[in-house]
Amino acid sequence: MRTQVGIVGAGPAGLMLSHLLHLAGISSVILESRSRAVIEATIRAGVLEQNTVDLMVETGVGARLKREGFNHHGFEFRFGGEGRRIDLHELTGGRSVTVYPQHEVLKDLIAARLADGGEIVFEASDVRITGINSDPAIHFVRPDGATETLHCDVVVGCDGSYGPSRDAMPEGGRQDYVRVYPFGWFGILAEAPPSSEELIYARHDRGFALISTRSPSVQRMYFQCDPAEKPEDWSEDQIWAELQTRVGGNGFRLKEGPIFQKNVVPMRSYVREPMQFGRLFIAGDAAHTVPPTGAKGLNLAVADVFVLSRALERYYRDGNTEGLEAYTATALRRVWRAQHFSWWMTSMLHRLEGASEFDQRRQLAELDMVTSSEAGRRTIAENYAGLPLG
Ligand code: FAD
Ligand code: DHB
Repeated sequence: MRTQVGIVGAGPAGLMLSHLLHLAGISSVILESRSRAVIEATIRAGVLEQNTVDLMVETGVGARLKREGFNHHGFEFRFGGEGRRIDLHELTGGRSVTVYPQHEVLKDLIAARLADGGEIVFEASDVRITGINSDPAIHFVRPDGATETLHCDVVVGCDGSYGPSRDAMPEGGRQDYVRVYPFGWFGILAEAPPSSEELIYARHDRGFALISTRSPSVQRMYFQCDPAEKPEDWSEDQIWAELQTRVGGNGFRLKEGPIFQKNVVPMRSYVREPMQFGRLFIAGDAAHTVPPTGAKGLNLAVADVFVLSRALERYYRDGNTEGLEAYTATALRRVWRAQHFSWWMTSMLHRLEGASEFDQRRQLAELDMVTSSEAGRRTIAENYAGLPLG
């Protein structure tokens, strides 16, 4: 088998890359270890930056997003018993975010790739990358047990935090930057009406909580927990009591309903440098992870492949390799900005175990400073709505 660009992983990065390459007349094949049904049912991120929305709409995969997504012009910080709104729209000259779940993005991208004749091998196993210095190939096993080799000009690893691509780079030429947080997020999906028109990011002495949404009848909420917490150990009543304590007050109460999904997400910051070695490129979570507080993970994955698709387009159009050579530097600038923002949001809003009274008051003062000055609100708004692409 042969293609121009071999892609490992059918998450937001791999699928969007394949879609953008197709629009530029460049062929690609995606090898994915999970089934289509599992991918389309896995609950993950929910907030799309303006850039991600614009790219989806401009490239013809945004119709359902426009119809079914919820456009939000702002969000609320809640701390010390009061709410402070960040008006994204006003502070950024008209930018906003859209709440549209990651698995819906994936359904739209998969449908578009297949309608355009794209090839995605689901349930591929034993994926191995070789020849990244001269003659790249991806070896894999099809679901029926047949072994196969995909030869390509370039391999792009879009295989998330646990895939094999980033470790196909030689050990001597790479560096990892890691920060592990001593807490995680307990996430739920509940059948209930929305409690608020916009997202609420709450800081409480018991810890962080986030109120988001999925539809008029399904709500997504999270609260800070021990990363080793077991979802099954928490009853519905305990979960609602914890969320009400952290977010309620001043007459505000969350609207409750049956909880039909619970999960615990660990949190860490991670960057692999460089993001390219020979003919192997890595993008999205394969190259970096952010704590979810800034809602940046999916958006960063899309931004990486936007940059890479432009560079590949230049290479195939006129043999110019400048964009490809600059990929690591171009992508890392945004990655580190997003790392800082995600770490900052996390550190302002989470309960830091062992923090002194001084640290707690300092944390409240920081939130007060950022939300009461227009310069502070604008900094938050620009980063949350997303820096321009490319
Ligand atoms: P992924 O979406 O991880 O896609 C990688 C793909 O590669 C997967 O489909 C995987 O099956 C495939 N793959 C892996 N190994 C192999 C292999 N050996 N062979 C072939 N294929 C392989 N971000 C937020 O902003 N907000 C959130 O609330 C949020 N929640 C999250 C919850 C969880 C449980 C996780 C894991 C992530 C969450 N994120 C969140 C982060 C966000 O979902 C990711 O940043 C985003 O999915 C990155 O996209 P990606 O395409 O780079 O990687
Ligand atoms: C959601 C997830 C996030 O990480 C975030 O910052 C905001 C919303 C969500 O799943 O809806």
